[in-house]
Amino acid sequence: MNLLMGVTGSSGVLELPLYLRILKEKLGADIKIVATPSVENFVSLDFLSTYVDRELYVDFLSAKSNVNVPHSDLSAWADMFVVLPCTANTLAKAAHGDTDNLLTMLLLCYPEPVIFFPNMNPNMWSKKVVQRNVKLLLSDGHKVVSPSGNGWITATGDAVLSGHMPPPYAIADYIKKVYEDTFTPKKEVMNDGIEG
Ligand SMILES: Cc1cc2nc3c(=O)[nH]c(=O)nc-3n(C[C@H](O)[C@H](O)[C@H](O)COP(=O)(O)O)c2cc1C
Repeated sequence: MNLLMGVTGSSGVLELPLYLRILKEKLGADIKIVATPSVENFVSLDFLSTYVDRELYVDFLSAKSNVNVPHSDLSAWADMFVVLPCTANTLAKAAHGDTDNLLTMLLLCYPEPVIFFPNMNPNMWSKKVVQRNVKLLLSDGHKVVSPSGNGWITATGDAVLSGHMPPPYAIADYIKKVYEDTFTPKKEVMNDGIEG
């Protein structure tokens, strides 16, 4: 499975290495990351990229990139596209079709439904505006997984019984099920672009 993983600037990003290891192990997935610029506030992108064989993208166009036009090429490459963890900010942009960074552009380019794994504290998650955005995404055919995992409030350290993306094994099982239920292999492209 070619798994494209959008990563956004949430405290949940600190646990991403563990999630990446378990997703690779459980799904046998080939994973590429597309990160928003704010991820760098939480973790070094170079460090994160070591978990995906340096296949981590942030910029629309970079002379250093081994991908020609990332928003087209990564979209064509992916069998599945998930956003893990997903901030309230990126959720809102996705719901409204904003394309101000590579990840949001890819969300618009990708032809299939996307799975969003929001990570935000319960006050944010229960806000009407956030729930409106979730409904918009669901009505467009995407999947949005409630942040039902246990976590803590970053600022205070207080434990909370939700607000965190579900644990990695649960997420791996969920992605596997969606993949098996919905994935149709990409048609081979035959001569002159005529699909067979
Ligand atoms: C310490 C810290 C933790 C944060 N954790 C979250 C979070 O878990 N969920 C969230 O929606 N925003 C969180 N934010 C706010 C986002 O980083 C901010 O909205 C940012 O603009 C998101 O950008 P992005 O969606 O482009 O990655 C946090 C900010 C800080 C400073």
